[in-house]
Amino acid sequence: MAARQLISVVVLQAMVLLSMAHMSRAERHESSRKRLPCGPSTFTFYLHNTVYNPNVDNRDYFNSVYGRPPNVSFANPFWFGVQNTFEDPLTAGPANDSKSLGKAHGFYVLDSFKEFMLFHIFTANITSGRHRGTLDIFGQVREVDPVRYLSVIGGTGSFLGARGLASCKLVQIDRVPPAKWTLSFDLDLYY
Ligand SMILES: *[C@@H]1O[C@H](CO)[C@@H](O)[C@H](O)[C@H]1NC(C)=O
Ligand SMILES: *[C@@H]1O[C@H](CO)[C@@H](O)[C@H](O)[C@H]1NC(C)=O
Ligand SMILES: *[C@@H]1O[C@H](CO)[C@@H](O)[C@H](O)[C@H]1NC(C)=O
Repeated sequence: MAARQLISVVVLQAMVLLSMAHMSRAERHESSRKRLPCGPSTFTFYLHNTVYNPNVDNRDYFNSVYGRPPNVSFANPFWFGVQNTFEDPLTAGPANDSKSLGKAHGFYVLDSFKEFMLFHIFTANITSGRHRGTLDIFGQVREVDPVRYLSVIGGTGSFLGARGLASCKLVQIDRVPPAKWTLSFDLDLYY
């Protein structure tokens, strides 16, 4: 009787130990399954935009074009409701001939009656350099602000799972038609 009791206690202990070992293996498996490769925590690119202008016929090198203005019967000095679609080159440095990183595809809509405010939404497709993939960015670019804060809402490739902040500054602008400008985007990324 005593021997049988002892055996059942030993068996019970062995079962508990086995299930603990099993659980910790399962937990280890779970944590390794959840761990994603993290991309860079910071990333910078420069975006170069040249607006199409039929008056100077820049059809060979423009990369953005305005849609028709809305048909409204009142003055619309800030182009409220006008959209511009772009496919802009991205570079690693501020000069437009610095190392190419890829392209940004997207659009902005002028969305203020009172000032120039450009709601941007675009995908930066980074195709060269150490980190490659896409970054999805959106937010307001209020022209008078020295720094405009946009959101990084996702990414693919090296940037899979990225979220964060895109701090945008105007690097240079040439308002003489065809208008040209360069924006810098300094990203702080979380995964
Ligand atoms: C703009 O709207 C007015 C009033 O509805 C219309 O008469 C006019 O033809 C429209 N213009 C264009 C370019 O669509
Ligand atoms: C590149 O930048 C230079 C210097 O600012 C400028 O003269 C040139 O027009 C730019 N090229 C394009 C395609 O925007
Ligand atoms: C990014 O650019 C590469 C090279 O042109 C292309 O193969 C890829 O499909 C592009 N990705 C997106 C999301 O545009």
